[in-house]
Amino acid sequence: MFDSRHIFFWGSSTSAHQVEGGNHNDWTEWERANAERLYKKAESERAARAQEDIYPFLLDPQNYISGTACDHYHRFREDFDIAQSLGHTAHRFSIEWSRIEPEKGIFNEKEIAHYREVIEALHERGIEPFVTLNHWTLPLWLSREGGWRARHAPEYFEQYVGKIVESYIHHDVRYWITLNEPEIYAINGYLRGVWPPAKRNLLTYLWVLEQLIKAHTRAYTIIKKAMPNAEVGIAKNNVYFEAVGRNPVNTILQFIADQWWNRQFLEYTKKHLDFIGLNYYFHNRIEKWYGKNENKIVSDLGWEIYPDGLYHVLKNLHRHYKKPIYITENGIADRRDVHRAEFIKEHVNAMKRAMSEGVDVRGYLHWSLLDNFEWDKGFAGRFGLVAVDYRTMERTVRPSALAFRDLIHENTQILIR
Ligand code: FCB
Repeated sequence: MFDSRHIFFWGSSTSAHQVEGGNHNDWTEWERANAERLYKKAESERAARAQEDIYPFLLDPQNYISGTACDHYHRFREDFDIAQSLGHTAHRFSIEWSRIEPEKGIFNEKEIAHYREVIEALHERGIEPFVTLNHWTLPLWLSREGGWRARHAPEYFEQYVGKIVESYIHHDVRYWITLNEPEIYAINGYLRGVWPPAKRNLLTYLWVLEQLIKAHTRAYTIIKKAMPNAEVGIAKNNVYFEAVGRNPVNTILQFIADQWWNRQFLEYTKKHLDFIGLNYYFHNRIEKWYGKNENKIVSDLGWEIYPDGLYHVLKNLHRHYKKPIYITENGIADRRDVHRAEFIKEHVNAMKRAMSEGVDVRGYLHWSLLDNFEWDKGFAGRFGLVAVDYRTMERTVRPSALAFRDLIHENTQILIR
């Protein structure tokens, strides 16, 4: 019999805090405390580089406050109608822990029912849900206890995940992502100090990574116990580190960077991963000491566009882990939508090239369905296949979303092993 699970998934991703609106978690507090500072910083950068064109929204500190975001919390059905009309067959979203467990050990049944409706709305449209359990934001009670630094944080996560699993066990969720980009989260929050809780301490950073590994392992175990058929993974941000030239120092540095950034977390969790979710955005050329980008085509946020890197990152993951891979994020801030269609096409080509060489890729989820709140960059970076007018909340499908739809139609026959 034909098994629909062997069909490749095409779709997009979002995360709760970036699209829902009306959240109250550690990020919302941090935004309030930092909006003015972020705005001033961006303003001075803009003046220095004369980039008024690129940053059109920075004249207002409100850019840095998530507020009502895209109001997706109330408009998810309308947004999923759009995803369906664009040919999407999968959608990744996250459950907001602070809604489910606003006080320690106290679960909000109304919010649990909300995400049940979200899951059902996707199923009704023939879209497979990929559920992320934590996309960075924490309930306030936990951040007051120290966030992931707190000794019992992995147990708290396990209790929350246990509640989720028990609540949605009969709702046919097969794909679970425990954590989003744990290494990006830990480095920005605990080493660079640029995200909440704004710490800069090497030992704390290492401790938090260890806590995240424990949290993942506990979540994996509890999900699989309740749902043996579930597929559980993480969303991992991997970078293509390219050693330039023949200098052996570059090759050694490349090895270290790859080991540390791309593989360390996976090494510790590989026994508890059914698949690897790959978020691909970055290429880093290693020249003597630190990489620099040569490609002059960049996104509105100044990020290099380098599709070939996706091929290399996929090959690398396959070489070391031989696990199924879902591309759980890949996208571009492109307010005018001049690069996005080509960006998608080229990345999909790179992915297909890796697949033709035996890499087991099972889905491509573009970041993002909607323009959304891009963390410390605020609303300025426009990643959406669908544009959002934040004053009226009107949605407008961008031309690149239609190009992506056509590409999906041309590729519906991609079968996976
Ligand atoms: C990833 C995050 C996602 C979004 C994109 C642009 O690192 O997982 O939430 O911010 O970058």
